[in-house]
Amino acid sequence: MPIDEHCLQYVYAGNEGECELVIGFDFGTSASKVVIQIPDLPGSPGYAVNFCNLAHTSMPFILPTRLHRQPNNLFNLGRGNGAKNMINDIKLELFSDNDHIRSNRGPQEQGFSPEGLAAIYLALVLRYSRKWFLETRQDVLRHFGRLIWSLNLGVPSPCSEDNEDNHRFIRVGKAAWMLSTLQENRITLERAINELRMVDDSDYWETDDELSCDFAIIPEIVAGAVGYALSDLRRVGLHLMIDIGASTVDMCSFILHQADGGDRYSLLVTDVKLLGTIRLHHERIASIQHYHERRSQDLRDSHDPLMPITDDIEPYILRREEMINEIRAAEDELKAECMKMMKLIIRDAKQRDPNSSVWRTGRLPILLIGGGSQLPFFSSTVEKLDGWLREFDINEGTILMQVTVPESLLSQTDDYYRLVVAWGLSHREFDIGEVTPASRIMAVEQPPHQDWEERYIGPEQI
Ligand SMILES: Nc1ncnc2c1ncn2[C@@H]1O[C@H](COP(=O)(O)OP(=O)(O)OP(=O)(O)O)[C@@H](O)[C@H]1O
Ligand SMILES: [Mg+2]
Repeated sequence: MPIDEHCLQYVYAGNEGECELVIGFDFGTSASKVVIQIPDLPGSPGYAVNFCNLAHTSMPFILPTRLHRQPNNLFNLGRGNGAKNMINDIKLELFSDNDHIRSNRGPQEQGFSPEGLAAIYLALVLRYSRKWFLETRQDVLRHFGRLIWSLNLGVPSPCSEDNEDNHRFIRVGKAAWMLSTLQENRITLERAINELRMVDDSDYWETDDELSCDFAIIPEIVAGAVGYALSDLRRVGLHLMIDIGASTVDMCSFILHQADGGDRYSLLVTDVKLLGTIRLHHERIASIQHYHERRSQDLRDSHDPLMPITDDIEPYILRREEMINEIRAAEDELKAECMKMMKLIIRDAKQRDPNSSVWRTGRLPILLIGGGSQLPFFSSTVEKLDGWLREFDINEGTILMQVTVPESLLSQTDDYYRLVVAWGLSHREFDIGEVTPASRIMAVEQPPHQDWEERYIGPEQI
């Protein structure tokens, strides 16, 4: 029997007690991935939501982060009917500080509230995901009397601090949940704005027991470390985590502690920059443009008006070699920016945790996640850290640690690496572990003789 989109329970439920369901929502700038886990069943199975015909053509578990505007200002998910009605940058516009990368297809450019559209997008994905799950997993769920839902929404690491971005993501996530439970099929922008106002009142959220859920926001990079922390490869101590996404590179150094009864992560230093795969694409295009402009200018400047114009058009043709060099130079600049970011994080990690054994005898473990980590451009940049750390005699270099997901997800797709964060998020909040944000960790004072600034990020070292 088809299930209504707003439903949280089966209409004809069983009578075998309660069952907890955790939605791990990896809200990416380019695409969302959702995994729903049933932590109390044997093996805690997790299921990647299959977005079927709404999904990106590369993989059924990847849903583009975009909306399509319909008549009467209603919005749809999926591939849609042409660029004219498309709204992108739904996540990017939730960051306070990114004016310079806004496209002309974002909510603001089109006159919509970024929070309102983000809430609508998340609500539509939540509706789709729950419906898909309730319909396709009846065999394991139907006999339960009541389903208890939790939602863990992934956020870029700086948004896990107590700041305006953090409050915005919480507001949007809660409003999205409430919108997704509305009996009304149509989710309008007015409803979304209204819901955003209501969830700011904590009483509204907490008293609506039947409809609200257990909601948490969790740094994407911490969720990315869950698989590693649960594996035999795990080590306690200092790590570097790098998430190379479509728009952003999100990085943090963290200490993995073994606390009584669970993992504990101290995020030492976090940083997120617009250095993801899309940036690489744009830098290449910009370099071609610059080359064209320079070459045209050279041709104008070198022309002698007294000389006859040649019949030969060869001098006007762009030189392939020069163009390639131009693109490579742009790539090198971007690589240098990534390297600088990584070096600064490592330098700061050393300031905050100078007594870690990795600085003397060990190797710095690196976890590399995100779709962009598959591109040699980024993975080779990360590999260079090894030589750099050795050169400075800090330690034995770096060691790349494997980040994986359980067999139940591996059997669903070969591209499991795209689901690592969503799977991490689909654990109960207390199973993910306790996260101490960077701002709550005191830096240990530096020994006086260190000259980190110069040694670590001089331009010749990048
Ligand atoms: N096998 C692959 N080889 C090369 N690049 C890949 C591969 N798979 C994915 N990518 C790149 O990864 C990008 C998407 O990565 P990901 O899904 O981690 O981004 P996101 O989560 O949407 O973004 P963000 O984390 O910045 O919010 C795509 O734009 C694509 O270019
Ligand atoms: Mg991501």
